Amino acid sequence: MIEKFLNKITQGDCLKLLKQIPDNSVDITFADPPFNLKKGYNSYKDSLKLQEYLDWCESWISEMVRVTKPTGSIFLHNIPKWLTYYASFLNKKADFKHWISWDAPTAPMGKSLQPGHYGILFYAKDAKQLKYYEIRHPHKRTRKTKILAKDYGGKKSMLHPYGPLVSDVWTDIHRIKHNKFRDEHPCQLPIHLLERIILMSTDENDIVLDPFNGTGTTAIAAKRLGRQYIGFDLDKDYVSITQQKLEHELPISKIGECWVSFYLDEVVTLRNNDWNYLKDSFYIPDKVEDIDTTPIILKTKNNISTPAKIKSISIHHQQFQKTLFEPTGEYKQNNLTSKNTIAKKISR
Ligand SMILES: C[S@@+](CC[C@H](N)C(=O)[O-])C[C@H]1O[C@@H](n2cnc3c(N)ncnc32)[C@H](O)[C@@H]1O
Repeated sequence: MIEKFLNKITQGDCLKLLKQIPDNSVDITFADPPFNLKKGYNSYKDSLKLQEYLDWCESWISEMVRVTKPTGSIFLHNIPKWLTYYASFLNKKADFKHWISWDAPTAPMGKSLQPGHYGILFYAKDAKQLKYYEIRHPHKRTRKTKILAKDYGGKKSMLHPYGPLVSDVWTDIHRIKHNKFRDEHPCQLPIHLLERIILMSTDENDIVLDPFNGTGTTAIAAKRLGRQYIGFDLDKDYVSITQQKLEHELPISKIGECWVSFYLDEVVTLRNNDWNYLKDSFYIPDKVEDIDTTPIILKTKNNISTPAKIKSISIHHQQFQKTLFEPTGEYKQNNLTSKNTIAKKISR
């Protein structure tokens, strides 16, 4: 039954479609539903009465829990107001793990504090069986001097060369700012937000289901990371935009055998377990204390992770895979001077 939906984006009402997915059959579910804020979607009126909205949300949330495997996770993205209700539904059916605060400006809600974050609720279907991987992100640095933003004092020798473990406050992923990178859709998420979620909760070939596909952020992140995807959306144009974009994507967001998330020329999320394999792909100062003033740098540039609206062609992607570990030539940066290293292909 699930096969007909696998690696496809299906047009239709997610509640009806979810009912066709067997119990305990997908590895993670992620939902970024309409926020009931009168957004201009093509096929959906985003202004239900309060109780009508909440009842509707409870129905599809129950379905998401039902279809998720006992080892799997359920992620719900929304403004904090709606997440308080979602948490009360979910607490009856699954195990709370985290309220991830994604630092991103949101619409002012009247005379009150300025909303500065979206929430992502992270629940385990069963905390005892949960599949979860620790992930790291790059050290935060000042924009101009590139010195570490945080003062580690006498603990610099204990720094991880790449960066800290990711906490439940995400300040390093920005909303898509330029219209040229956006699709014809009012609320598109950045791909590397979904890549982070997928890296921490799934393995290669696992199934990621998004009942509110929009223009395909989740499916694209899943495909780039070698996962399978299932997407639903009411609107045929959003489905068709997604399908066109997916045709140009390949499962190549990796270094050697390790899946990573790229944004522009940086690896923005990697798995802690993979660091031993990945470290040879970076120029790292000999003395770890020098991390304070000297960013580590990927030995090769990647070309795959420009913001969402990618006009890239698959030939370009295939070339990327070939050139990823070719010689990189002269390297000069801060006080870490030239190296002419041939980056080694890492294999496990
Ligand atoms: C907030 S957007 C999702 C955006 C998506 N995360 C992205 O990055 O492109 C919500 C989407 O839900 C879709 N939608 C609304 N009601 C739906 C329903 N009952 N079944 C399936 N999709 C629905 C809308 O068409 C819209 O594209």
